[in-house]
Amino acid sequence: MPYYRQVGEIPRKRHTQFRAPDGSLYAEELMGVEGFSSDSALLYHRHLPTAIVDAVDVTVPRDTAPNLPLKPRHFRTQDLKWEAPADVDAVTGRRLLFGNADVRICFVEATQPSPLYRNAAGDELLYVQTGTAVIETIYGSMAVGDGDYVVLPTSCTYRVVPGDDLRLLVLEASGHIGPPKRYLSTKGQFLEHSPYCERDLRGPVEPLLVDDTDVEVFVRHRAGVTKFTYANHPFDVVGWDGALYPWAFNIRDFEPITGRVHQPPPVHQTFEGPNFVVCSFCPRKVDYHPLAVPVPYNHANVDSDELMFYVGGNYEARKGSGIGLGSLSLHPSGVTHGPQPGAVEGALGVDYFDETAVMVDTFRPLELGEAADACEDPRYAWSWAKRGPDWS
Ligand SMILES: [Fe+2]
Repeated sequence: MPYYRQVGEIPRKRHTQFRAPDGSLYAEELMGVEGFSSDSALLYHRHLPTAIVDAVDVTVPRDTAPNLPLKPRHFRTQDLKWEAPADVDAVTGRRLLFGNADVRICFVEATQPSPLYRNAAGDELLYVQTGTAVIETIYGSMAVGDGDYVVLPTSCTYRVVPGDDLRLLVLEASGHIGPPKRYLSTKGQFLEHSPYCERDLRGPVEPLLVDDTDVEVFVRHRAGVTKFTYANHPFDVVGWDGALYPWAFNIRDFEPITGRVHQPPPVHQTFEGPNFVVCSFCPRKVDYHPLAVPVPYNHANVDSDELMFYVGGNYEARKGSGIGLGSLSLHPSGVTHGPQPGAVEGALGVDYFDETAVMVDTFRPLELGEAADACEDPRYAWSWAKRGPDWS
């Protein structure tokens, strides 16, 4: 994250003696990305953060298959079923929809608190489609709800405690996720033309302290998943400061950029990650030229696969395609796509779109995971021509 925060107690000078009331020294930890050459945080633990007493490999293979034959696809996460829905948590219950070397995209309907977990292979971005949760982290807690994006930096230990009806889209990146660089000053402040800024962001505000011993922590790393047992509970940080911490941002705080004629997809960009971007399509006044065509033109996303997650309202360009709330459309590189038949004519003269969608564009092809196979609507590719192998 680009700006500095401080939570809890810290010593006046970094790397100096900092003692608990009983006189013992707190254990200082530097969390630093990019080889300690970029953002970092200094955390002060009650116990040694290095003290592990067991490690067990719990890797579960997560296979994907290429998008063959290449075609536009529609997936209905609203139709996904879990074998034991009352026992699903937001970490071990994740189901893999799509993946490539840069990002894995998962979905989960969580009903139980997750185990402690951290992703050491990259940042995670959670999008709360519905419901509420408390995200407990070594930096403190954050209450989140529908429409929240939550950025969890690499190696941030956390767990998800769900409220009611929690549905999460989860992006597991192979690198770091942050605001688009073009919206930041050289020193990291959001610029005036950015659709959101520091005032829209939330982070932990007080330490979260838990006393416990022999605590399991699942760690996703570059070779799989290992379950560690820590001598003490990792939530033992009495204070921290720095520019690296988990944060949340609600999609309703994204201020859409509009114009007289149709604005290109990059105006919706919200985050950038390694070889992918995330965009927010929010309710907005639409194009106001007297002859404007408010829905998108047909477009060939030449260098990216376009994944769209429909989360609110009624997406104008997809009317008549079978897409509903919870649907995901995948429009891969190599196939031009555009509004469904009749959508252009139907949108003429409209001045407001009540639609919310999250878009992920990946620069390398997305392969399909188990959950994608489980919820695909095979008719979608033929919904422009109204005929094809699975149409009828
Ligand atoms: Fe598109």
